[in-house]
Amino acid sequence: MLGLFSVQDRIAVVTGASSGIGLEIGQVLAQFGAKVVLMARRTELLEQESQKIESTGGAAKWVGIDLLDRSQLAESYDRVLSCFGAPEIVVNAAGINLREPTEKISWNSWDKTVQLNLTVPFFFSRQFVRIMKKQGRGKIINVASLQSMRAFKNGIAYGASKGGVSQLTRAMAEAWSAHGIMCNAIAPGFFPTSLTAPVFESEKTEMKMAEATAIGRNGRMEDLHGPILFLASPASDYVTGQILFVDGGFTAK
Ligand SMILES: NC(=O)c1ccc[n+]([C@@H]2O[C@H](COP(=O)([O-])OP(=O)(O)OC[C@H]3O[C@@H](n4cnc5c(N)ncnc54)[C@H](OP(=O)(O)O)[C@@H]3O)[C@@H](O)[C@H]2O)c1
Repeated sequence: MLGLFSVQDRIAVVTGASSGIGLEIGQVLAQFGAKVVLMARRTELLEQESQKIESTGGAAKWVGIDLLDRSQLAESYDRVLSCFGAPEIVVNAAGINLREPTEKISWNSWDKTVQLNLTVPFFFSRQFVRIMKKQGRGKIINVASLQSMRAFKNGIAYGASKGGVSQLTRAMAEAWSAHGIMCNAIAPGFFPTSLTAPVFESEKTEMKMAEATAIGRNGRMEDLHGPILFLASPASDYVTGQILFVDGGFTAK
């Protein structure tokens, strides 16, 4: 029974792992025995966080990368494999939300948002599919959003990218799941990270968002643990193309 939710000795790679949700996912996978590769641009944070994991008996290495740089992305396959070998779990958590009013959005800011949030998860994951196919198994976990389903003020580029992440997840499942590769997404509600600082800086907005959930509060980082272990482990071997909303019932109301 324990093995059902086990990620013991599985190799996982997590983007956006220097802070927030990506870091939390890297930590929980490592805590439950996975060998984790943490990726982001801020290498000092990655080093610090992987040392923390190792000091508590976990296995972690890191790869510094700017995912918006295509040449770095192309080199990332070899760099990830040189850590622990081929990853069986790929988590695409790197993302940005520039919160620009519609009339202020430039081609550059639109492209940056869509590239990092939507395009990179496809090209980053696809590198590992050939080797996952050979192994006959793999777990790809994208990070969608409330904005995959709902429109928020100043969220047009972010919302478009996250709406795309939902469909990307279904299309990945259609393309790869016959080879044993399960492709799903978590869609977090409001969790306190640097990306959601504008929400949590104002008590009024924080309360408003909490009240919009069915449970009556915003997310706590530990609320992500169960859903991530489920999607990363054999427990979800017949689940693919799904968006799991971890939002306290925000989208149910
Ligand atoms: N917080 C929430 O409530 C919430 C809700 C729904 C969805 N999400 C999604 O969750 C994911 C993580 O966001 P977060 O809330 O945890 O915010 P965060 O703490 O700001 O994390 C964003 C991560 O993305 C990385 N990143 C940004 N630009 C990058 C680039 N060019 N190359 C490589 N890595 C890059 C950052 O690392 P570096 O700066 O070190 O590169 C950081 O690790 C995002 O996809 C976000 O859309 C968050």
